[in-house]
Amino acid sequence: MEKLIVKGPTPLKGRVTISGSKNSSLPILAATLLTKEKCVIRRVPDLSDTNYMTQILAELGAEVERASGVVTVEATKIKSVAPYDLVRKMRASICVLGPLTGRLKKASVSLPGGCVIGDRPVDLHLKGLEGLGAKITVDGGDIHVDAKKNFKGSTINLLGKHGSTVLGTDNVMMAAVLAKGTTVIEGAAAEPEVEDLANFLIKMGAKIEGAGTHTITIHGVKELHGAEHTVIPDRIEAGTFLCAAAMAGEGVTIRRCAPEHMKAMLQVLIDSGFPLEVGKDSITIRPNPQAKGFDITTQPYPGFPTDMQAQFGALATVINDVSTITETIFPQRFMHVAELKRMGADIDLQGATARIRGGQKLKGAPVMASDLRASAALVLAALQAEGKTEINRLYHIDRGYEHIDDKFSAIGADLDRKKD
Ligand code: EPU
Repeated sequence: MEKLIVKGPTPLKGRVTISGSKNSSLPILAATLLTKEKCVIRRVPDLSDTNYMTQILAELGAEVERASGVVTVEATKIKSVAPYDLVRKMRASICVLGPLTGRLKKASVSLPGGCVIGDRPVDLHLKGLEGLGAKITVDGGDIHVDAKKNFKGSTINLLGKHGSTVLGTDNVMMAAVLAKGTTVIEGAAAEPEVEDLANFLIKMGAKIEGAGTHTITIHGVKELHGAEHTVIPDRIEAGTFLCAAAMAGEGVTIRRCAPEHMKAMLQVLIDSGFPLEVGKDSITIRPNPQAKGFDITTQPYPGFPTDMQAQFGALATVINDVSTITETIFPQRFMHVAELKRMGADIDLQGATARIRGGQKLKGAPVMASDLRASAALVLAALQAEGKTEINRLYHIDRGYEHIDDKFSAIGADLDRKKD
């Protein structure tokens, strides 16, 4: 197992280029299963999660090639079964369920199981596919979908008790593009990654309207063809570097990002008093020792993203004020809090609200990465903590941040990867 040794505090200065979005790449790679023809996907970040997805596609029978960010998939003949050994490593492997159902009208995909940020059920994915007429059974930990008969478009509401579902919307959309008739997804997730998937499907010949809003209409077609696509910039990676720069920066510019996808987090930074210069595809941020605290509540897009709350939690520790963070999507997603406290942070966690009294001097300590975004928060805290921080279980961060060590080193951080 690898760990990251970070020595702080180090002032960050310079430019960082943002990678393609992980959460766009995963469903888009899965969508290549919808056609026999060749698809070319560009700006796929080199991460363990995208590697798992290409392995799953290959195991399902697709020919997959990967070279510096470009993934080529030709799924001439594919199997309908994705067993536990294949899907257990990554929860997002559930997004092969929709494409297999759409193309083969049958699928057996193992339930991916829970994860550290919460229970993560898939009931809404299944409800959506059932709404299209598929018969579903769950047996021995596997989901079996039979859509041979009566598979056709209908109106489906995917709103759950925590709001819309991103991968659930993706799965239903990917199945519905090849269902007869018209499907209307109400309560659809409006995240930019859902819209990016829809844009790829449209290039493949799908007829989709309303992606990026809460109502998506899909007119089913007989078949899809090959297409080329470039995935959107990763708004969460971009936000993570902005937080780092706000905490320990001397002026950092992030490039090749999509500021229009980051409005909620940019507003929090502006309201706190961090000077921002926002360009078409770049953002420059400077520190502000007089920055004010903030109150964040996570919401589905266009609200404040759950995938950014841990990093803003780290930022709050250096602001000389009180901030609160309330998590409504994954109420248990606070694994980073105990670790930040080990570094000296003053955080009081009550239910799903963290109250952070910032301004304490953080000190380096050995800490444990738990999930992807919690690990990112620990790196941010370590960069400006006094002394050496050792972040264990680094594989969590490699799931979602491409070349994170190189990118931070290039803007002045002192970090080193070591084997245990
Ligand atoms: N939910 C249900 N039933 C379902 C599906 C979801 O109740 O069938 C609930 C969840 O428990 C949660 C809420 O609905 O409370 C939203 O979950 P969602 O389905 O939107 O999550 P997801 O699609 O599985 C994606 C991202 C996550 C991100 C969430 C929320 C990918 C690969 N993953 O997950 O990203 O946190 O949307 O925005 O796109 C990450 O990148 O670190 C990450 C965890």
